[in-house]
Amino acid sequence: MILIIDFGSQTTHLISQRLNDLGISTQIIEPENLSTAFNEHIKGIILSGGPASVYKNHAPTISQSLFDYQVPILGICYGWQLIAQLLGGKVSKSQSEYGLVKLQITEPEHLFLGVSPELTVIQSHGDSVIDLPSDFITTAHTDILLHAAARHQTRPIYGLQFHPEVSHTQQGNVILRNFAVNLCGENITNQELKIEGLIASLKEEIKADLVIGAISGGTDSTVAGTLMAKAIGKQFIPIFIDSGLMRYDAKLRVEQDLADLWQLKPIIIDARDVFLQKLKGVIDPEQKRKVIGQLYIDLFEREMKAYQGKVKYLLQGTTYADVVESRHGKHTALIKSHHNVGGLPAKMKLKLIEPLRHLYTNQVRALGLKLNIPRDLVFQQPFPGPGHAVRILGEVTPEKLVKQVQADQIVVEELKKAQLYEEIFQSWSIVTNAQSTAVKGDGRFFGDVIALRVVNSQDRMTAQWAKLPYEVLDNIAQRIVNEVPNVSRVVYDITNKPPATMEWE
Ligand code: XMP
Repeated sequence: MILIIDFGSQTTHLISQRLNDLGISTQIIEPENLSTAFNEHIKGIILSGGPASVYKNHAPTISQSLFDYQVPILGICYGWQLIAQLLGGKVSKSQSEYGLVKLQITEPEHLFLGVSPELTVIQSHGDSVIDLPSDFITTAHTDILLHAAARHQTRPIYGLQFHPEVSHTQQGNVILRNFAVNLCGENITNQELKIEGLIASLKEEIKADLVIGAISGGTDSTVAGTLMAKAIGKQFIPIFIDSGLMRYDAKLRVEQDLADLWQLKPIIIDARDVFLQKLKGVIDPEQKRKVIGQLYIDLFEREMKAYQGKVKYLLQGTTYADVVESRHGKHTALIKSHHNVGGLPAKMKLKLIEPLRHLYTNQVRALGLKLNIPRDLVFQQPFPGPGHAVRILGEVTPEKLVKQVQADQIVVEELKKAQLYEEIFQSWSIVTNAQSTAVKGDGRFFGDVIALRVVNSQDRMTAQWAKLPYEVLDNIAQRIVNEVPNVSRVVYDITNKPPATMEWE
């Protein structure tokens, strides 16, 4: 097993995920618990990144006894800076690097065995190691960062300033595998997702109780609901709340495709007006998420009354990325509260069932295909719970919502037409608060600016704007300006994550 010490990085669980994909067990612990977590099965220790600065008071740290354990140690980002500081090196604020950076490898061994001499890697740091501790040598650098990777000359201690765990770092998997397999001596086995096991454990947990399912028509709740329908049949009560904030075809999918697949008739609650009423005057994005989350729960609770205490569980299609971004560990900074995790009011009397909680999107999709869910349901783009509400900047009004649904539909349709929809991770329109001038027919008019955000990503932690063919962008822009009322201009967002998040709000 590899022990991962979590200093609060958004990507700590991806480190674990990458190793698990190789069949290597991992355990994630808080730094305070190292001494109690260490045992003879642990073959290596990884120190994760984190949002703090090692030289500040109260920054999370670890005891020097870390170096007494006779196993290889790898520090990533903050973890590497902490190792350097603990061993006498110097860390300070320096020229920062965010996003994709070119890395030159000067020693193609150990972690970099079999890796290309030049890689594109994801950096996300403001601090860096400026003086190495004694007995360390540099093994890679970037144009502005001297010690992008380093190692101890005689002991198995390694540091990486960049993130090998995120998908946009080239050959990151090879680097992690080199650490775990070559340097720590872990064995690789192939772990398969066991569907029968998942279904059996759901059956065993639920017994004769009823489960209400929060379904959206999206991939995650479709896969979770399919597991549930297979496990307990009619004890499963799928409910779709039509908030009006979802994609144009969401309701149809639920009414037709899912009803067929599950052989159940989902309950559909038309709440479009209530959502708009509650969102009146709300402009703070976090507040929007809270309002929407609360309303979903209230509507569920009301619906449940019909089942008079017989319903015990609430099914949600929460996946690992939702959990991570809503703060999983003690040292993680809150990025955004996701309605299906952070906004859940404590007073809710239902027990949550989240069978996908430990899976990333790629695993959820693999599971969906194994469950024989039609491909176009499995390969839908992820869509945030608060939906169009966080894609309409400022107050959500009925007029802006109509525009957004229409513009978003055009984006989806045009990408499908160009056969790009599946390979693009996410794509959507944004109704901005900006207005600009246009000339339509004979007159000038001052209309809305619609933005497009189209991004590629594998794990939602990092993303790059998609280099869409100009013709596709052109078709989208022309259709939006012509078909959506009062739009004067369409602009394309060309910012990567990091630093920008995917959503504008
Ligand atoms: P960001 O904007 O944080 O988005 O880079 C990362 C992923 O999360 C989705 N997202 C949300 N999903 N509730 C959700 O269920 C939310 O409040 C929320 N905000 C962002 C976003 O679409 C992307 O897939």
